[in-house]
Amino acid sequence: MKKYAIPEISEDVFYVGSKDPDLRKFDALVHLPYGTSYNSYLVKGGDKTALIDTVAPGFQDEFLSKLRQITDINKIDYVVMNHAEADHASAIPHVMEASPATLLTSPKGAKMAERFFGVNPDRIKIVDFNKTIDLGVRTLRFIDAPWLHWPETMFTYIPENKILFSGDFFGGHVSYGIFDGDVDNAIPAAKSYFAEIMLPFKNWGRKALDKIAELDIAVVAPTHGPVYKNVRPILENCAVWCSGETAEKALVAYATIWGGSGEMAKIIAESLKSEGIDIKLYNMGNTEFSEISADLIDSRGLVLVTPTILGNMHPMATLFMNIVKLYKAAFKYGAIITSYGWAKSATKHAAEAMETAKIEILGSVEVNGPPLEEDIKAIQELGKNLARRIIEN
Ligand code: FEO
Repeated sequence: MKKYAIPEISEDVFYVGSKDPDLRKFDALVHLPYGTSYNSYLVKGGDKTALIDTVAPGFQDEFLSKLRQITDINKIDYVVMNHAEADHASAIPHVMEASPATLLTSPKGAKMAERFFGVNPDRIKIVDFNKTIDLGVRTLRFIDAPWLHWPETMFTYIPENKILFSGDFFGGHVSYGIFDGDVDNAIPAAKSYFAEIMLPFKNWGRKALDKIAELDIAVVAPTHGPVYKNVRPILENCAVWCSGETAEKALVAYATIWGGSGEMAKIIAESLKSEGIDIKLYNMGNTEFSEISADLIDSRGLVLVTPTILGNMHPMATLFMNIVKLYKAAFKYGAIITSYGWAKSATKHAAEAMETAKIEILGSVEVNGPPLEEDIKAIQELGKNLARRIIEN
């Protein structure tokens, strides 16, 4: 029988999660350069044993083997479901079948466990956020932390270990290593993950951070990516990402077919840069969402550059603006540059998209065919206006 490595991440707390290094798309949207992990933790509490979250579909056999290696599954008393999404909860029915465990979750989690995973309601206990559950020498305390990023989410804290199990919050898509010290890009990966999953819920994130501010936390154990033993950087960075604060930074996103829009994007990027603005320039035609996502958190300015196609923006520009709107990107000020052959309709669609995303439009330049000298001057001027506004804030 295969023997698995089961690291002890804190006294009597064992990592029983699964690694998925070959996964390249998450949520059918996010490119994963490092794969991901589905973290689950087994807590031996003295008298009782608790399992915190489980793993994704397809990993249940490996998961049960790991549990059998570290404990008698029949002796698992509690399964804590901090989050009901399938990547952490789909193995719950397998554990429930193999053990007499009680499922501990939030009120909304209870309904989801029954509906999504067929858990018998008689075996579900809704946690009381004002009470703890005694495991013997350790206790489980639950923190109501909804909308991170589903309505039922909660955190679990063990004061004796000073460990916080935070579900997806503080997560990152990294499959290798166990601890933050094993991973050379833990905070950048967490920032991208935050943008891709938590950004629309940053106000809920702030509330959750306020609730855990009084806790003494030595270890942060999320459901994806590394376990943090050096907790200060992840807690402090996450507070900044949740704050909505933006930087003197602009994202210039362009789609181009014959190079004209690309040329104009570079002209306005240079103009912004000459005024001291930090620039991120992306060709939407060959850029993954995961390469841009972290810049959606803190870029104050957005320049959208697109040719006109079939009476609209380039489809990649439309997709990008949909993402900006859905993910509640932080942009405050915008500028639009379009090119057209015979109909000026892209500017109208770009303006509508920016207005829907609550971005104040500072101006637009519409160019017939490739940019001429007067177009270049207009673009440079637009860049300087946008830079001024970004700096004034
Ligand atoms: Fe990683 Fe929301 O599940």
